[in-house]
Amino acid sequence: MLAARMQQRAPPQQAQRRRAAGAAPAAAAPRLPARPTHWRRAVRTASTTDAGAPVGATATAPRPAGGEGAPAAAPAPAPGIGGDAFSWHRAWWPVAVESQLDPSRPTAAMVLGVPLVIWRPAEGGWAVLEDRCPHRLAPLSEGRIEPSDSTLQCVYHGWRFDGSGACRDIPQIEDPKARATACSSGRACARSFPCQAKGGLLWVWMDAKSPPPPDAAPPVAEEIGREGWTLLGGDWFMRDLEYGFDTLHENLHDPSHIPFTHHGIMGNARREIATPLGEIKTEAAPSAKGFRLWRDTAPFKIPSRMETVNNFVAPCLNSTVQKTATGRTFMLQFYGVPVAPGKSKLFAGFVTNAKLPPLARKLAGAFDWVFHLGQQVVLDSDAYLLHVQERLLQASPAGGWRQSFYLPATADTGIITFRTWMDQVGGGSIPWPLGTDARLGPALPREVVMDRWAQHCRHCKSCRRAVTWIERLRAACTAAAAVAAPVGAFALLAAAAGAWPGAGAGAAGAGGWGPAAPLGLACLALAAAALLARRALQRLWSRFHFTDYVHADVK
Ligand code: FES
Ligand SMILES: [Fe+2]
Repeated sequence: MLAARMQQRAPPQQAQRRRAAGAAPAAAAPRLPARPTHWRRAVRTASTTDAGAPVGATATAPRPAGGEGAPAAAPAPAPGIGGDAFSWHRAWWPVAVESQLDPSRPTAAMVLGVPLVIWRPAEGGWAVLEDRCPHRLAPLSEGRIEPSDSTLQCVYHGWRFDGSGACRDIPQIEDPKARATACSSGRACARSFPCQAKGGLLWVWMDAKSPPPPDAAPPVAEEIGREGWTLLGGDWFMRDLEYGFDTLHENLHDPSHIPFTHHGIMGNARREIATPLGEIKTEAAPSAKGFRLWRDTAPFKIPSRMETVNNFVAPCLNSTVQKTATGRTFMLQFYGVPVAPGKSKLFAGFVTNAKLPPLARKLAGAFDWVFHLGQQVVLDSDAYLLHVQERLLQASPAGGWRQSFYLPATADTGIITFRTWMDQVGGGSIPWPLGTDARLGPALPREVVMDRWAQHCRHCKSCRRAVTWIERLRAACTAAAAVAAPVGAFALLAAAAGAWPGAGAGAAGAGGWGPAAPLGLACLALAAAALLARRALQRLWSRFHFTDYVHADVK
């Protein structure tokens, strides 16, 4: 079974590359001292990752390709790395922003390649089932909530399920006894996953076979919801991304890209004031719990000192806590979720204890779509390069990240630490369901990679509402221009011809223009203003859908 899983994890062309390069099979590796089963699994996995780490790499500090100039602060994994059991599935994963869920209908989601359906059962709260009907695998998320008993009905043949996934009805079986027997079969049940709402997010425990232990809680910062702390924008920002879990987290551990990739769009980050990062200390080495890094330099010049702790809480939270000299704290909480190969989902929350004027808080709550548009721009600015980068890494003839990347600067410590965690604790890659093709296809068009509507707005009530109003106003502007322009033109022509009632004979020449001329001019001005407003609304509308991000054009 382990061998099957390993085959699943390694993309076929990488396995072929290793074979072609004459890589020793795991069976030929040096004999290891006896260890607990999960420890052996971590070591063996590391020995077979495409990063090419030798067996026993868990005991040595990882180094990037090209030994010279390697960062002095490259983290050395602590003895016993992976000593705690790590499981991708026995973990809480954020699956939705709770306020964005519609209790009147099922919502589709996907975590770790497993399709899920979220819905509100009769007992209240939320239920998460595997998104496939046990009858003939139709997606339950295409179904409906039956109003009489709040069961989830598959719309293919009408089977119904309760919040635990138990089958409540099979309409095709007439005899009540036979129907009850069929419904009670385990084969009639939909797979159910434990879930809970916490901190504004809905969390799912991805091991359907065994419930979470009582001490396993979703990793939510306790400051969220506490007096004196604000979640900027009023809620979590969610976006689907066209690059994978490892590319997303690698990027989140890479502060030195900020002044370049996000030049001019993220606070005062600008490429002209980029600075090297000084020492980065590993406060907690990679383990099943994650790792923690510390630095006291920002990636660009800032007026005062800023201390940053970057905490990776396995398997999904990147918590960056920044403290300024004035005592303000900013917590950037990023949850990166593996959806499918080459696809991930980001939940971002910005929490601060900085005092915000009450009016600013109110406006932020009422116009959170403005805040979301800002986040969309930031994510667009690295979406395409990351989408292409991970394809180049997967296809790299050099092998994995150690061979393909050249990481000579201390600034890359976070990258090395995260990749090391992935290799040595996470097993090198996500354990997708059997049958999943982990190969990434050719790069998608930019319009798809930066499709803001598909990736965020259609899931966001605030953005959808804003777009509805923009479309209404745009239609009103179109109608106003369509009426005002011909009326204005007609009035001016009539005035010029002296045909307007009240205008003197010969109009302009003898009796004057009468009231027609001002009316005509006003109508034409109204038409022009409506067209200009329509154009501005169209540009705003496109910011909810697709706006290309071209770095070379950003001054
Ligand atoms: S596939 Fe769902 S009821 Fe038939
Ligand atoms: Fe939004």
